[in-house]
Amino acid sequence: MVNYKDLGLVNTRDMFARAIKGGYAIPAFNFNNMEQLQAIIKASVETKSPVILQVSKGARNYANQTLLRYMAEGAVAYAKELGCEHPEIVLHLDHGDSFELCKSCVDLGFSSVMIDGSHLPYEENVALTKKVVEYAHQYDVTVEGELGVLAGVEDEVSADHHTYTNPEEVIDFATRTGCDSLAISIGTSHGAYKFKPEQCHVDPATGRLVPPPLAFEVLDAVMEKLPGFPIVLHGSSSVPQEYVDMINQYGGKLDAAIGIPEEELRKAAKSAVCKINIDSDSRLAMTAAVRKVFVEKPAEFDPRKYLGPARDEMEKMYKHKIINVLGSDNKLAQC
Ligand code: G3H
Ligand code: 13P
Ligand code: ZN
Repeated sequence: MVNYKDLGLVNTRDMFARAIKGGYAIPAFNFNNMEQLQAIIKASVETKSPVILQVSKGARNYANQTLLRYMAEGAVAYAKELGCEHPEIVLHLDHGDSFELCKSCVDLGFSSVMIDGSHLPYEENVALTKKVVEYAHQYDVTVEGELGVLAGVEDEVSADHHTYTNPEEVIDFATRTGCDSLAISIGTSHGAYKFKPEQCHVDPATGRLVPPPLAFEVLDAVMEKLPGFPIVLHGSSSVPQEYVDMINQYGGKLDAAIGIPEEELRKAAKSAVCKINIDSDSRLAMTAAVRKVFVEKPAEFDPRKYLGPARDEMEKMYKHKIINVLGSDNKLAQC
């Protein structure tokens, strides 16, 4: 049994309370490799932002849970070495799909876990989430639950259509499960294809496709039922058009990839939404930079020569999110 506090990590409780009060959101960035982790830590240290490192079940299978845990421990030391004396770094399980997986992460030193029972019948979701909360809270590990279904594919949880969260269920769910935060569905979805082109209209100024707005009325109703309760938004990548264009320019093939407009995320971050999940934008930044090197320097075969630029591009993107979208810069309790 490893306690996350011994690794220098923190849980989400205090940072979420401050984020709601302060009208900003904490970035939750997925990682599964060293370059992503370095970029996340550099960006959060340089902007003085708390940060959540997320590990999906797929990332855990790809990179090994133990190695990822040591990488997170290393991330705390790296942040200090970069000059941040009191980093606030959470190691979070993203989309946990069973009690056993959540327990294994708690036992290995994760400071926060998500149990995603959103695809289950309501009573089963309540029972599973409650069981995870009862275990995790013994070790002061915080738990994220989910109500409502996001469209898109995750490891074990996939859906063709989203179902908005029913605000009538949130008080009962939060009270009976004891979860610390709640992921809700208001029209975001996972991946780089969040909307079909026919759902969008063309912005005459830029010629770009503009997706329909998120269901802020659902978020408002949830906040009215659970004032001050930490809300989480999954599927919040913006799918920057410059990365899509760059990938296509350098031999890739991404058709009509569409994300969540930044203005909508800025608006959400000012509300009780205190955790915003971003994975696809990191994948796009990395792929765009790597493809560029492959095309421009075809003789290059030292991975550092293409993973280095990929890391720089991700760092730039993470900083942009922190400063210009989520507003979590300069929000560390102590520097
Ligand atoms: O929620 C989905 C995340 O982007 C993780 O994706 O399951 O492919 O690692 P993944
Ligand atoms: P994106 O696919 O929009 O980056 O969402 C990531 C996510 O929600 C991880 O849980
Ligand atoms: Zn997600």
